[in-house]
Amino acid sequence: MQTGELLYKGKAKSIYRTDKDDELLAVFRDDITAFNGEKKDEFAGKGEYNFAASAFFFDFLEKNGVKTHYLRAVDERSMIVSKLNMIPLEVIARNRAAGSVVKMFPFEEGQILDPPVVVTDYKDDERGDPSINDDLIVALGLLTPEELADVREKTLTINRLLSDFFEGLGLILVDFKIEFGRKDGMILLGDEISMDSMRLWDMSTMESFDKDVYRFDKGDLMSAYARVVEKINQWKDSHME
Ligand code: C5P
Repeated sequence: MQTGELLYKGKAKSIYRTDKDDELLAVFRDDITAFNGEKKDEFAGKGEYNFAASAFFFDFLEKNGVKTHYLRAVDERSMIVSKLNMIPLEVIARNRAAGSVVKMFPFEEGQILDPPVVVTDYKDDERGDPSINDDLIVALGLLTPEELADVREKTLTINRLLSDFFEGLGLILVDFKIEFGRKDGMILLGDEISMDSMRLWDMSTMESFDKDVYRFDKGDLMSAYARVVEKINQWKDSHME
């Protein structure tokens, strides 16, 4: 289903206008990119897996007191979301060292980070999404000091909820990226929570079940994503109200 004008085409999602001013339609596409767009492909069905994970996690977080932009599913790859005024920050929570943090600092791959580490990148492809600190965020007028504290607290809450959830599925939530936006003076979780935006490792084999499978040619991406969605569905079946 696609209604209304295309407002924004991101790397893996398209956002359309709807007939309501305060609601948008987010469609999860099959496109995948890595290394700031240098590597690009399309995997049939990827949009549906990421939609399924995102819809589940938004719902799960809402039930656990975290406000998100998610309103309802439309079909197997589209959801209606509240229109947010997006804050151009990528907030990353890390429970273990992996990816860019291992390249930049003397961490061992997989080293446990306790307490978890929250870092923030400024969302700007042309500048290569540079890492940004709290003073710069306030100086740029992106968040007030109070909002910064709120975003950090929300991120740590989401991390705790998702880490515990994945632990129950035999997976380690290594890290993830989230984005926030404003609506009626409140800060809500926006964007997506999917295998494209997190690192998930099998607890016993340390095998990846996320976009690293694509980034580093570690195997069959769609089988990895399907496995995560299958585990989520099994959890849903065993928690039917
Ligand atoms: O690349 P890096 O190690 O900084 O990524 C940390 C986490 O944030 C990973 O789970 C990665 O998939 C996610 N991420 C993302 N979008 C970006 C940058 C990072 O989803 N633009």
